[in-house]
Amino acid sequence: MKENAPKLVDQYGRHVNYVRISVTDRCDFRCIYCMAEDMTFVPRAQVLSLEEIYRLASTFTQLGVRKIRLTGGEPLVRNNVMSLIERLGQLPGLDELTLTTNGSQLTRLAQPLQNAGVRRINVSLDSLDPDKFRRITRTGKLAQVLAGLDAAVAAGFERIKLNAVILKGRNQDEILNLTHYAQNHGFDISFIEEMPLGLIDDHDRALCFCSSDEVREIIEQHYQLAAIDETTGGPSRYFAVAGNSARIGFISPHSHNFCHLCNRVRVTVEGRLLLCLGNEHSLDLRAVLRKPGSSQDDLQQAIIQSMDLKPEKHHFDLDAAPEILRFMNMTGG
Ligand code: 5AD
Ligand code: SF4
Repeated sequence: MKENAPKLVDQYGRHVNYVRISVTDRCDFRCIYCMAEDMTFVPRAQVLSLEEIYRLASTFTQLGVRKIRLTGGEPLVRNNVMSLIERLGQLPGLDELTLTTNGSQLTRLAQPLQNAGVRRINVSLDSLDPDKFRRITRTGKLAQVLAGLDAAVAAGFERIKLNAVILKGRNQDEILNLTHYAQNHGFDISFIEEMPLGLIDDHDRALCFCSSDEVREIIEQHYQLAAIDETTGGPSRYFAVAGNSARIGFISPHSHNFCHLCNRVRVTVEGRLLLCLGNEHSLDLRAVLRKPGSSQDDLQQAIIQSMDLKPEKHHFDLDAAPEILRFMNMTGG
């Protein structure tokens, strides 16, 4: 194998250079689209240790991965997570270390994250109304997240992106407020269609479904959106408003299939390597990591071979019983 040839290539010719790692399934929020009210979390012994996560991350970078995103649950509620992030920030070959957070810990951790080399963060924000915010997150406090965002601005991240999942009857009336807030603060914002991951008890996903086209129509009543051509390699389709550098994006797993561009895989909190968010194809990396006598080469070979399992595309069907029973908090966004 040539030294610089991409090592992680699937059957469809897609190069995997981006890994999302869930560092905990726990969270201080209980968002209605993500969790059931009453959740059972994975027993600690089954969760990868920080050392195991570091070993995986460094193996992936040896195999050509350039970007790692830490997710959860809420990544920042994991004990000692900053010690992991500080080490990951030093990994040779990694161009970007980033995370998706609910923002609840940012007043405390924004500056340490920036010091560790994190340059961009995604913060989930579904409403700017304290009551609606509480109804959606069940336990979250809006003021705490907004203070966290202020702390992130003060810490000087290169880019802050908001993620908003829009549900009819819950926060469809927040679309414009969120857009104004993002534009005024210079934050990118992505509006996300809800995905049928895990059996939730709050709402009927088909009834609350709000398509990206509907969200866009509402925004276009106030803003003139111009499509941005550059692809970010991700599933977001981005738009710009004249005179503002903050982008407005749409992640539309239902209405626009983006699988052909997929450059990513995910590691669950239990160390399952998921080849696709919308399918169960996976490899048990924890078993490889914990097998007595397993070498670095075994781990690399297992990951390289897993590329053959990556499915061509996802199939989300809101009207069928969910095929994917894992919750988003195990999978990590
Ligand atoms: N569908 C779409 N997005 C989801 N998220 C969590 N659960 C779902 C779901 N079922 C998103 C949240 C958060 C990120 C961690 O994942 O918006 O931004
Ligand atoms: Fe926590 Fe994020 Fe899930 Fe909300 S969406 S419960 S913040 S992990």
